[in-house]
Amino acid sequence: MSENIDNWFNTARFGMFVHWGHSSQLGCELSWPLAGGVFSLPFCNNIKVDEYHQSAKTFNPQKYNPQEWARLAKRLGMQYAILTAKHHDGFAMFDTQASDFSIRNSPYQKDIVKEFIEAMRSEGIRIGLYFSLIDWHHPDYPAFTEADKPYNLLKHRQPTTEQWHKFTDFMFAQVRELLTNYGKIDIIWFDGSWERTPQQWRAAELNDMIRALQPDILINDRLPGFGDFTTPEQFIPPQPLDTMWETCMTINESWGYNSVDTNFKSSRQIIHTLSEVAGRGGNLLLNVAPMGDGQIQPEFLERLAAVETWMQAHAESIIGTKPGLEPWQFYGSSTRRENLIYLHLLWKPYETISVRGVPIKKIKSVYNLKDKTPLEYTTRCAIMESFNPNPMGELTIIVPESVIDSYATVIVIHITED
Ligand code: GLC
Repeated sequence: MSENIDNWFNTARFGMFVHWGHSSQLGCELSWPLAGGVFSLPFCNNIKVDEYHQSAKTFNPQKYNPQEWARLAKRLGMQYAILTAKHHDGFAMFDTQASDFSIRNSPYQKDIVKEFIEAMRSEGIRIGLYFSLIDWHHPDYPAFTEADKPYNLLKHRQPTTEQWHKFTDFMFAQVRELLTNYGKIDIIWFDGSWERTPQQWRAAELNDMIRALQPDILINDRLPGFGDFTTPEQFIPPQPLDTMWETCMTINESWGYNSVDTNFKSSRQIIHTLSEVAGRGGNLLLNVAPMGDGQIQPEFLERLAAVETWMQAHAESIIGTKPGLEPWQFYGSSTRRENLIYLHLLWKPYETISVRGVPIKKIKSVYNLKDKTPLEYTTRCAIMESFNPNPMGELTIIVPESVIDSYATVIVIHITED
């Protein structure tokens, strides 16, 4: 079971995903516009391939302040942050010797990945790098052209054997740079494997190289056949999984900054998602999509500010916890840490809530997490069980209106150790 895996990631619970690239200037989503859009991105429109790539020439995010992002992540209780070092459009956000198509040759010039890593590290946030296996810009991939539209998820133009060797050597070189030039990297997050076979990606060899360069790194499951954790996208698994897992999710419906996408989730929805994910033993990798100048859009910041306020009082019930009770024991999400059980109330209760199958004679206290207000409760078990020194029974907690949090109330059950 994943709850026994001894790895920081297994109980990290909250991370920041940053989808950012030169096309953020166009406010149009990352990479997919050049391929004409894709079913999963309702606000992504078609942009001519050349026009899309052109925006690399003007990328100059003067308001990029990774220290601010790092402080935000820290205040939110996030344990790690993952930046798109290279997305499907092939543009390297880092200083690469393997190609000219990078931030080095944009007006900004400075190594965005390096600045991100240094800032996150200074706040104690672990580092992850997103790296797309797909490269729609590299001539030997081969590059995606107007003639390849409409994009077909199942069918892709194939390179010659010689081209493919050249491309994979280049791809390996970039991965090597990322894992050599910036110190310890905690996660490498691949994407885009669907366009080629594991053999074509040289997945086994890539895996070996990564492990040799960064022995403690975690690899996601999008390096086909390998990987340390699974990555359900825009979806929470209905039950705990046997593997470590991470749901990646957007605040609206776009990964990269998209100025027309106003389908924002509410702060409450984000908090509830985080509770549900924690209750099933996973991590939430919440995406922020900075704009072309490097600022995070106000609609995201507003929502994150409410999440932050909630986390200030409730992080203890999320970060570093394990899944709590079984669904039959409590009709909601719950987590636990040692002898504390955290009940996440994602609905408003009618006077009381019930918890079943708990050691009722060992309950030390029940309280509202936010202000530590003790809550009244009663217990019961089957009559014949009352003579049992440690019976399992039902706990009924009175939840007054006054303790209801407008986002999610968290109630703690403290069980004695003996
Ligand atoms: C999809 C998309 C990509 C996005 C990723 C995040 O694979 O292709 O744009 O970066 O999901 O999980």
